[in-house]
Amino acid sequence: MEAQTGDTLLDVALEHGLEMPHECGGNCACTTCHVHILEGADCLSKPEEVEIDRLSSAENRQPCSRLGCQAILLRGAATVRLVEEATW
Ligand code: FES
Repeated sequence: MEAQTGDTLLDVALEHGLEMPHECGGNCACTTCHVHILEGADCLSKPEEVEIDRLSSAENRQPCSRLGCQAILLRGAATVRLVEEATW
């Protein structure tokens, strides 16, 4: 799918009708938009401290984890997989 530089991964998903949970509205206050970056991490903005802190409480956290509402596409392309959190 096509995306514009400067868009967050959440923006891209929503613009293309893909379901990416975003319980806090993209304010880095939940982890429902947790994704794993499979390729192209260097095409995204670097995570800021607030995102790193928030991700520390995410389930299935990996070194490639990002929050879709915080990762901004800077150039090129990225391959992303949504991490579904367990619901209780
Ligand atoms: S939507 Fe809540 S942290 Fe991204």
